[in-house]
Amino acid sequence: MMLGLDIVEIDRIARLGKNKRFLERVFTPEEIRYCSAKSRKWQHFAARFAAKEAVWKSLGRGGLALKDISVENKASGSPAVLIRGRRVPGIRISLTHCDRYAAAVALRTR
Ligand SMILES: CC(C)(COP(=O)(O)OP(=O)(O)OC[C@H]1O[C@@H](n2cnc3c(N)ncnc32)[C@H](O)[C@@H]1OP(=O)(O)O)[C@@H](O)C(=O)NCCC(=O)NCCS
Repeated sequence: MMLGLDIVEIDRIARLGKNKRFLERVFTPEEIRYCSAKSRKWQHFAARFAAKEAVWKSLGRGGLALKDISVENKASGSPAVLIRGRRVPGIRISLTHCDRYAAAVALRTR
């Protein structure tokens, strides 16, 4: 599959995220730092959770844990995918979040 889409309830991530072990199992230290600095941090955590699942769907194969897929924000704020800490030029993502939901789409271009 070349395209992946995922939507996440922010409350669910906020509940799970109270457990530090959940956060550390799913998100990289850089993602935790980025999200924790935001006033509505669970929106950002949830968007990253959605992004990981969307990227996973776009790859159409297993072998990757959620934490292997991470999101880095460029200076412009636009998000980029890292797999095991490395930029992946062949996958583009876009994130969005509002009060209750966060969503992400991933497009694999090669
Ligand atoms: C960047 C922007 C589009 C984000 O939109 P928003 O409705 O405020 O917020 P959303 O929840 O939909 O999206 C937030 C996500 O957009 C992404 N984003 C931020 N800057 C971005 C950029 N320059 N390009 C692409 N994506 C961007 C980020 O992933 C962010 O989530 P994160 O901080 O958790 O990583 C908006 O803040 C902005 O600057 N808009 C420009 C306004 C404008 O000129 N509009 C008129 C032209 S149509």
